[in-house]
Amino acid sequence: MDSRPIGIFDSGIGGLTVLKELVKILPNEDFIYYADTKHIPYGNKSQKQIIEYSKNIVEFLISKNVKVIVIACGTASSLAYPYLKEHYNIPIFNIIKPIAQSIKDKNIGIIATKSSVASHVWENEISKYNSNINIHLVACPVLVPLAEKGLQNTFISKQYIKHYLKEFKDKNITSLILGCTHYPIFYEQITEELGNNINIINVGTPLAIDFKKFLYDSSLLANNTGNITYIASGNYNAFMHKLNKRNRLLVYSVCQII
Ligand code: DGL
Repeated sequence: MDSRPIGIFDSGIGGLTVLKELVKILPNEDFIYYADTKHIPYGNKSQKQIIEYSKNIVEFLISKNVKVIVIACGTASSLAYPYLKEHYNIPIFNIIKPIAQSIKDKNIGIIATKSSVASHVWENEISKYNSNINIHLVACPVLVPLAEKGLQNTFISKQYIKHYLKEFKDKNITSLILGCTHYPIFYEQITEELGNNINIINVGTPLAIDFKKFLYDSSLLANNTGNITYIASGNYNAFMHKLNKRNRLLVYSVCQII
C-alpha cells in the first residue's frame, strides 16, 4: 500500500485521455495532472527543448511526493523518456512501450506529432517486440491546436482529418494507433473517416492495464478517495475553464490548486 499520488503530465489537455483510462481502472488512486500550457505545442519542438521541459515537470512532481510518473504525451515519450529514465530514481511510464508490446497486426498506421514521427522511436520500439510488421507513420500537426481550441466535430477538423488520413487509404492497415494523446479527442471523426474495419487504438488503454499491474506487483496501490489535482504552467484559470467547458473528463475529479 502506498497512498502517495501519481504524477502525470502532458503539454495540455491531451493527457486527460490517458488520465481518463487510468481513473477508470484505478479509482482509489490520487493524481497530480501537470499541463505544460506555457510551452504547448510540444510537437514541433526539438529534443533538447522537450527534455528541458520534461525535466522541470518531473522535478516538480517529485517535489510533490509522487510515487510514480506517467508521461501522458507521445512527444515527450518519444524524445525525453530515455533521458528521464536514466536520470531520475523514480518509476516513469511512457505511452509507447505498452502498445508496442501488445500490437499483433502485420500492417499498421500511426498518427503522431511531427517531432514524434521524426524521432523514429515508434518504429524502433515496435520492432523490438515484433520485427515483422509494416508501419506507416503520418504527422498531423494541426490536430493539437484544434483540440486545444475545442474544435473537434467541426467542419475544419473534419477537413484536416480527411487530408491526413488520406495517406492510409491504399495501405490496407488493420489498426491505427493514436500516437499523440490529443488525438482521441477526434475519435468519432477518425472512425467516421476510416470506417469500422480499422481498429483505432487509444494508447491510454494498454498503458492503464500495464500500469495497474505494475502498481499491484510493486505493492504501490493506494486506497485513496481518487482526488485529482490539476496544475498548469501557463494561465491556470484558462486551463480550468477549458476543462470545464469542453471536457467531460472532470466528472471524476475534485480540483484544487497546489
Ligand atoms: N499530447 C502530446 C502528444 O501526445 C503533445 C502534443 C503537442 O503539444 O504538440 O504528443
